Amino acid sequence: MNKTIFDFNNEKCTSEEKIAGVTDEKCLEVFRIEYLGKKGMVAAMYANLGALPNDQKPEEGKKINEFRAIVTQLIEEKKKELNAKKRRASQKTLDVSIPGVAQQAGHAHILTQTIDEICAIFERLGFGIQDGPEIETEFNNFTALNIPADHPSRDGFDTFYLKQPDPDDKKVNLLLRSHTSPAQIRIMKENKPPLAVVVPGKVYRPDAVDASHSFMFHQIEGLLVDHDVKFSDLKGLLTVFLKQLFGEKIKMRFRPHFFPFTEPSAEVDISCYICSGKGCSVCGRKGWLEIMGCGTVHPKVFEAVGYKKGKYTGLAFGLGVERLAMLKHGISDIRLFYENDLRFLNQF
Ligand code: DAH
Repeated sequence: MNKTIFDFNNEKCTSEEKIAGVTDEKCLEVFRIEYLGKKGMVAAMYANLGALPNDQKPEEGKKINEFRAIVTQLIEEKKKELNAKKRRASQKTLDVSIPGVAQQAGHAHILTQTIDEICAIFERLGFGIQDGPEIETEFNNFTALNIPADHPSRDGFDTFYLKQPDPDDKKVNLLLRSHTSPAQIRIMKENKPPLAVVVPGKVYRPDAVDASHSFMFHQIEGLLVDHDVKFSDLKGLLTVFLKQLFGEKIKMRFRPHFFPFTEPSAEVDISCYICSGKGCSVCGRKGWLEIMGCGTVHPKVFEAVGYKKGKYTGLAFGLGVERLAMLKHGISDIRLFYENDLRFLNQF
């Protein structure tokens, strides 16, 4: 028996250990030739097989076949490993000098920005910020605000009335608030004067949607109640507010008006922001823009919240956020606020 046939196990290292040291294709080819080449180890084993006694040949032959299969498999695996290494090397490596892709950061919606800006001015003037529910009682939204039962705004065409949770409860009629003024009632009922608050929020009216109307929009309500509050306080307060919002140069006028919950009442106009009062398409050639309603709180409202007659006086005001943002930024269609079009929103 020729010993060399079995010598492969007595090599200084096994074929597995040997192939682990193969790091490139050239080495692999040397390895292959050494084991499987014409003059290689396996060929020598087969050559020596002939010298064995016939009864040992099948068993030894089987061992050589197994050895050849193992070495072939080792070569195949190494080939795959080297190919994968080559692929990785050819792929672009990390280039830290390439500018990164910045994450797109979001920002507050223009209506939120406008609300924040307005509320911040009143906060600096000592007002607190409160909210009120969008589902209100008919009492808070109308009755307590001295809006009579036959007032057109109470009509089903002008207010979203809600199904009553309890059909037997005739007293509490619910609706989607049509203005933020009912928050005045809640705040006065829950707190004692002195009071100074602004209340931003959504309001709802069944208006057909067009460039200047929406069934939902935003208002900010203001309320100040104390002893001896005068109409001149209201004028002074709103003058400071509007100058801070639109700049020192803005002119304003208080035009007598009627609201059931304030007496006397006024609407506030500012000189047109676009044409500085000369007259343009935004102000309808008038040079003035109507921006808010205001007045001193009607005694009937104090009565409705249970304040003692004559004890307190107060001022109130309300403004439309969309309208103000449209005037300030030259936006021509209210629907743009709600369509979530980033080409519009990213401008602010
Ligand atoms: N609630 C009124 C509206 O929606 C706006 C308003 C006017 C609010 C005068 C007030 C006010 O507080 O005093 O048209």
